[in-house]
Amino acid sequence: MDGQPPLSKSHPPKPHHPKPSRQSPAPETVSVRPLLLKPQWMNGLSERLLVSHYENNYGGALRRLNAIRARLAALDVANTPVFEINGLKREELIAAGSVVLHEIYFESLGGHGDNRPTGLTEPPAGLAEALERNFGSVTAWRAEFTAMAKALAGGSGWVILAWSDRLGRLVNQWAADHAHGLPGATPVLALDMYEHAYHLDFGAKAAAYVDQVMENLNWARIGARYRQAVGEVAGEGELFLPFGAPAQDEARISAEELKAALADSDGDRPFLLDLCLPRDLPRRTDMLAGASMHAPAALPDWIETLPRDRPIAVYCICGFQVSGTAVTELRRRGYDARALVGGITAWHAIGGATVPLDTSTYEATP
Ligand SMILES: [Fe+2]
Repeated sequence: MDGQPPLSKSHPPKPHHPKPSRQSPAPETVSVRPLLLKPQWMNGLSERLLVSHYENNYGGALRRLNAIRARLAALDVANTPVFEINGLKREELIAAGSVVLHEIYFESLGGHGDNRPTGLTEPPAGLAEALERNFGSVTAWRAEFTAMAKALAGGSGWVILAWSDRLGRLVNQWAADHAHGLPGATPVLALDMYEHAYHLDFGAKAAAYVDQVMENLNWARIGARYRQAVGEVAGEGELFLPFGAPAQDEARISAEELKAALADSDGDRPFLLDLCLPRDLPRRTDMLAGASMHAPAALPDWIETLPRDRPIAVYCICGFQVSGTAVTELRRRGYDARALVGGITAWHAIGGATVPLDTSTYEATP
């Protein structure tokens, strides 16, 4: 992340052809991945830390990556100084690496379904056997992995468990930054050792953070990622869907799709339904502009106020079963309802605008 772009050695070449308006087609937006962990139910990692990390650091990298890709797509490369190309391509690689590694980090944490992590789960059989083969035992693998992470205290970077086809084994890999990886290897587990990953909860006690992360690993998803890396399996997609989200694609809407639909003055602007359990109200500070906020349990009271001639986008905090259950029920009753994947947390991560929370439509005693 540090250092300056390499200096150009010469002026850019003069064009010998008409200046094109674009060098490449507009890039597709890299879309946000939802949180799969329940941030309020983790062992010793606070919701404040996890959500801040997800929205600001992961979301920041994602927003940066999309902005850089848009800038690159609009670049007339033949007439651009080499230092500008170098700088943009370097920043693109760093942002893309940060996006991918943060997604692996967050997806590797959390409990199973609606249960918080126990801290007692172990790698599934296939991955455990590979760890034994390559490191002597799961315990020996864990000792090296955590020692590498703790050795980064006071610095920054990642520790990555990766599968290397070329080496024919799993490796624990140090990464100095987001763009530092063993070529051709597939990360299976990534541990974020940047200070932003722990400072809110642990201050400078990086070793305590490392131990706490190991108590929150979701070995089912890590095992699935290992099987995908070695080409063993497909069809485990449900492991990577938020718990309680509707299974059908057409019953979900991504944050990017919702943002586009709200900005499209020609289309049917979605009606925004904000659902929140009473116990979760203290976790809320904001909402999407124009949304109506209701208590899920008061559905019989508010369902008739919903439009039948417009799409309805339903969101909750993270897009788990609160919005998922409601969308299933609304669709059963004939409404064109879709659940916002990742909830308002994913909306924050893409930089979506919000307004202060308005609970005037919320049922006081649902
Ligand atoms: Fe991070």
